Amino acid sequence: MRKKVIAGNWKMNMLPNEAIAFIEKITPEVKHTKNDVILCVPYTDLFYSLLIAQGTNIKIGAQNMHFEEKGAYTGEVSGQMLAAIGVKYVIIGHSERRQYFAETDDTVNKKVKSALKNNLTPIICVGETLEQKENNKTIEVITNQTKLALDGLNLKELENIIIAYEPIWAIGTGKTATKEDANNSIKEIRKEIEKIYNQDIAEKTTILYGGSVKAQNAKELFEMSDIDGGLIGGASLKPEEFIKIVNYNEN
Ligand code: 13P
Repeated sequence: MRKKVIAGNWKMNMLPNEAIAFIEKITPEVKHTKNDVILCVPYTDLFYSLLIAQGTNIKIGAQNMHFEEKGAYTGEVSGQMLAAIGVKYVIIGHSERRQYFAETDDTVNKKVKSALKNNLTPIICVGETLEQKENNKTIEVITNQTKLALDGLNLKELENIIIAYEPIWAIGTGKTATKEDANNSIKEIRKEIEKIYNQDIAEKTTILYGGSVKAQNAKELFEMSDIDGGLIGGASLKPEEFIKIVNYNEN
């Protein structure tokens, strides 16, 4: 049985004092959830967030990393650096990084490998553009991105990854994939993992949906057979909204 994961992606938002206030506010409200709670915060919030979240069930992640351990890469932060301060998760290959920062399937693969080497769980993002969707290329695009992101990983490493299916046209637009479409895309990603590895690991892999998830639509999405939770952007910046999403399955 896969555990549900509710992960926030704050993107380039939240100053340290805001991060601290947010975590302090949600802590008592999410402490009884059976879901995993992750907040992926800007680099400048990592240290404060880790301190404030210590001893709670809120886990802290980063939003990107470099694939090299160290060296002359001005402005970059490595997986080793993240791990050294206690970070456990890192988003890799978000569509905004692919779109604006020349992230490719090859750099995504290198970053995934480096994350795993440093005991970080990569949250690997895949997703199609509107044009690809309209040309019926969704499944081809996302299964190919999945295959390339996982290239060269062994079975043991696969136990420590999370995939997020985020249709680009649904990000920050208020347009959500229908629960059936999102579930179907995620099923196809699972099938691709089964094809490369085996059914057992495909069934165990956590695959999230992302793209305009809100308190109002979280339950119907997360109750689908293959959707194991969400990667949440805008709604993860509002504590009340995020609390509701985390507790979507509380009575
Ligand atoms: P929104 O929830 O704002 O659509 O963003 C989704 C996202 O990109 C999460 O990584």
